[in-house]
Amino acid sequence: MMRVAIIGPGRVGTLLAAACARAGHRVVAVGGGHAASRDRLTGLIAGVRPREEPADAMRGADLVWIAVPDDRLTQVAADLARQDAVHEGQRVVHVAGAYGPDVLELLRRSGARVAACHPAMTVPSGATDPELLVGTAWAVTASVPDRPWAEELVRDLGGDPHTVAADRRALYHAALAVGSNAVAAAVATARQLLLAASVDDPAAFLGPLARTSVDVVAERGAVAITGPVARGDVATVAGHLEAIRADVPSSGEAYRLLALATLEPLRPRLDAETIAVLDSLLSSDDRAGEAGARWNV
Ligand SMILES: NC(=O)c1ccc[n+]([C@@H]2O[C@H](COP(=O)([O-])OP(=O)(O)OC[C@H]3O[C@@H](n4cnc5c(N)ncnc54)[C@H](OP(=O)(O)O)[C@@H]3O)[C@@H](O)[C@H]2O)c1
Repeated sequence: MMRVAIIGPGRVGTLLAAACARAGHRVVAVGGGHAASRDRLTGLIAGVRPREEPADAMRGADLVWIAVPDDRLTQVAADLARQDAVHEGQRVVHVAGAYGPDVLELLRRSGARVAACHPAMTVPSGATDPELLVGTAWAVTASVPDRPWAEELVRDLGGDPHTVAADRRALYHAALAVGSNAVAAAVATARQLLLAASVDDPAAFLGPLARTSVDVVAERGAVAITGPVARGDVATVAGHLEAIRADVPSSGEAYRLLALATLEPLRPRLDAETIAVLDSLLSSDDRAGEAGARWNV
């Protein structure tokens, strides 16, 4: 059983607090953020002391999770080191995907054992059920001596630890931003189009379809992409552009850019003429109009 402190009582900080409590640890303090955020967390888990100053939350904890916005991480770590909040051997973990443990270097020099452990899971506001982290892959970056406890910590929360090298973290996180946020944006665009098509239950269409697409392409890569771009059905694509321009012009740019992103990995399997027409259709709204006219739509 470890005494745990959470710095940053937001989406991930609150979920980690719940997950640590369920794993049998004692969440002793939460620090930083607004009082209302700290109160939400203390209302969820008994016995947690709210502290305005992150340094006050950190003192007396065996394990400290730093779950602040990425751009604040370096400053928060520097403040904690400056305020002499670290004790020898204290474990400090941040959850930012794009960074390794080097952003905690000042804390390490003050005696902390540090690691970067990023759960590859989207954590929306109000998600407090630790089940969300069960089976989730985590990117773990730590020095060789720190890796075992960092991996054990992830397993303790039901996660699946994978090593990602410090200098690969930005690329790793870019991949997840595309795989999660860009996919979400694509689904949000599709939902708009379905509503414009008077489909009353967009989720019934999108849920199974998007989940299957994600599963097969995550496993097999671009070879598993289907649809009009993959088939080279240029008249169909031109028709989509025309219908969107007429009924949902605000989604036109998103459709065009997503179709271009679809085309990119498929170029090797399409013929040169088809690629040229698709490039022209999808290049910009004006040129798409001209190319669409050539396809009688
Ligand atoms: N959400 C996700 O899906 C997800 C998934 C994996 C990893 N992460 C990582 O988790 C970290 C936190 O993200 P989040 O989504 O949980 O963000 P969030 O909901 O905005 O939470 C950030 C928390 O940090 C607090 N905070 C802001 N500045 C601070 C400071 N200087 N000192 C102390 N606390 C401060 C905020 O306070 P207020 O509440 O008062 O504003 C808020 O409670 C990020 O590194 C992110 O990359 C997020």
